[in-house]
Amino acid sequence: MNELKNINENSPALGILEWFRPGEYDEVRNAIEDFNKLGIKHLRTGISWADWYVEGTKEWYDWLFAELDPHVEILPCFLYTPPSIGEMAKTSAPPKDLKAYADFIDEMITRYGQYFEWVELWNEPNNKVEYDFTLDYSWNKFSTMIGMAAHWAQKRGKKTLLGGMSPIDPNWLQMMIEQNVLDCIDAIGIHGFPHVFDQQWRGWKVNIQSIREVLDKFGYKQEIWISEAGFSTWQNDEVKQYQEFKNVLNANAGRIYWYSLKDLDPKNSTVGGYHLDEREYFFGLKKTDGTKKLLYKLLEKDGVEKIHQQDYINKQYKIQEGEKYTLITGGAGFIGTNLASRFLSEGKKVMIYDSLFRDGVEENLQWLRKKYGERLLVQISDINETRILQQCVNNASEVFHLCAQVAVTSSVSNPIHDFNVNLSGTFHLLEAIRKSKHQPPLVFTSTNKVYGNLQDVEMVENETRYHPADAQMKKYGINEKIPLDFHSPYGCSKGAADQYILDYSRTYGLKTAVFRMSCIYGPHQFGTEDQGWVAHFLISALEDKPVTIYGNGKQVRDILFVEDLIDAFMLAHKNIDKLAGQVFNIGGGPENTVSLLEILEIIRDKAGKEMDISFEDWRTGDQFYYVSNTNKFKEATGWKPRYSVEEGVENLLKWLCVNRNIELPENLTPNKKVAI
Ligand SMILES: NC(=O)c1ccc[n+]([C@@H]2O[C@H](COP(=O)([O-])OP(=O)(O)OC[C@H]3O[C@@H](n4cnc5c(N)ncnc54)[C@H](O)[C@@H]3O)[C@@H](O)[C@H]2O)c1
Repeated sequence: MNELKNINENSPALGILEWFRPGEYDEVRNAIEDFNKLGIKHLRTGISWADWYVEGTKEWYDWLFAELDPHVEILPCFLYTPPSIGEMAKTSAPPKDLKAYADFIDEMITRYGQYFEWVELWNEPNNKVEYDFTLDYSWNKFSTMIGMAAHWAQKRGKKTLLGGMSPIDPNWLQMMIEQNVLDCIDAIGIHGFPHVFDQQWRGWKVNIQSIREVLDKFGYKQEIWISEAGFSTWQNDEVKQYQEFKNVLNANAGRIYWYSLKDLDPKNSTVGGYHLDEREYFFGLKKTDGTKKLLYKLLEKDGVEKIHQQDYINKQYKIQEGEKYTLITGGAGFIGTNLASRFLSEGKKVMIYDSLFRDGVEENLQWLRKKYGERLLVQISDINETRILQQCVNNASEVFHLCAQVAVTSSVSNPIHDFNVNLSGTFHLLEAIRKSKHQPPLVFTSTNKVYGNLQDVEMVENETRYHPADAQMKKYGINEKIPLDFHSPYGCSKGAADQYILDYSRTYGLKTAVFRMSCIYGPHQFGTEDQGWVAHFLISALEDKPVTIYGNGKQVRDILFVEDLIDAFMLAHKNIDKLAGQVFNIGGGPENTVSLLEILEIIRDKAGKEMDISFEDWRTGDQFYYVSNTNKFKEATGWKPRYSVEEGVENLLKWLCVNRNIELPENLTPNKKVAI
């Protein structure tokens, strides 16, 4: 993996700032894993003087330093007065004996000096929460305490960083200089949280310049380090976090430490108090449940070197007066990309609204941008950022709502996220449409999962598949009249959204239609075991990876090649007046059914590979058989799928080979109908 270091010759070394509490062994191990994934080589971390005298803390720090040492260069920040020796009984008070801090630093260097080259002396001294300067009117105590510690640290062969000021304050620095603190200081720390805590943010350049000027005035040449910079995503704004990260990279600083790896667990209090300030909890590159935010994903994928090349990431696209476009939420995803491509190839303008939540979908955006240029408008936002969503809806001529948390498995492990995206997000979109002047029509992608696992349907089993005992159902598939039966959080969130969409047509007269879709497959699909199984099987075959089948493999689905689905979308769009308020089952239908065992056979044949297959227990809610009866939509619009299973699979296989630079398998006929 790329090392998170210099973007070019002159750019600063980059690190992460992460505070660990005594006993957080797993958190440290997980953080190391992340450091290695992201190529992070520098870590700034707090060492609590106050905790040092608590039983068990010494063993904790012994372990912590030794554990971190092989992976990162550690910058320890020593702070927090033990309340028992403070002027007041709190960690932010100056100690009664000012030399005690230097003694503590001495002890730390003796015990752990082998693990670090620099010591940081206090944290955010001009922030009252970290150092109560009201107990130190002229800053004499602080200056004496830090001056002695710095002198001693240098004597012991360490370099010294003055605890980062927050807010950045040249006047405060001048006062430190006048009190001779800088004589034994090698670098000055500054902290910045643009547009979070620093409301009147003037940019890194101006701030650093203001510090440099004070240093110049007194003839000091110390380096300036950004020892803490970060952005809180408390309002879901992951793009802004990414942009602020890019900004800090351009700052002319000796080093940069980004705050932080993981959001603060809501069960923990901050130094300022328990949940007094919600912003404190969302500075991480990852959420507390481990979900990677946009910046983490981009760093993991491209490394810091390429971060300035990701020009397709756009927030707050400025909508021109009277501008019209097709709005596709989740448009960077598999189906959205194919739909966008169809509209764009017909000369229309398309706006993709997507948070890039799904791993890898940024590649789709890059592909669309390269192919269609400026006709593609990109808005990287979360569906729950209602203000931006409203602006985008206001100028849309039609809306396709595809954005979703798409995997049943993830909905089980993280039902809140599933609910927020699938139901709350859909609700916000409906409201945005209702409140807009033109109320654009809406097509929503629901799922066959809203029919539950169809346990009451009697099945017959043969060598390779199940089919219903009922001859009519076997012939035509499952129609829209079958009762709804929501299974799994995904089934519930999609099902409830599906009902809201229909009801907004009934109650408010919006032009909305619902597609309850079975398995769609095709180019631009990043199939995984949890979603997009046809692509997943093909990718596994091409990459010689094993495949796990849950159940006996005889479960049957009607699969639909994505181009056929896009035809259906276009027809729905054209006929929306007639279709409004209705729901349609969409899939390959009885002509395009396969069981898992059968499709594996087809893949084996097409890819010319033996596959390594194992079997595990059924997954909860899995249907033995689902085949859509698409007659309602066919009759309303004249739609008919054009691609057979064989043709579709072959097309996807070809696309995957081209996309992954894999030679086409011999069994494939290169010039057959390719829909790429
Ligand atoms: N592919 C199928 O077989 C299938 C079957 C039935 C229904 N569906 C539905 O079709 C739609 C599209 O599916 P797909 O296969 O293209 O999935 P996909 O995962 O490729 O696309 C979904 C897109 O939504 C985006 N997204 C996720 N959370 C978001 C958020 N909070 N804000 C903004 N964007 C967000 C993702 O980044 C991704 O680009 C989904 O609603 C899905 O439930 C798909």
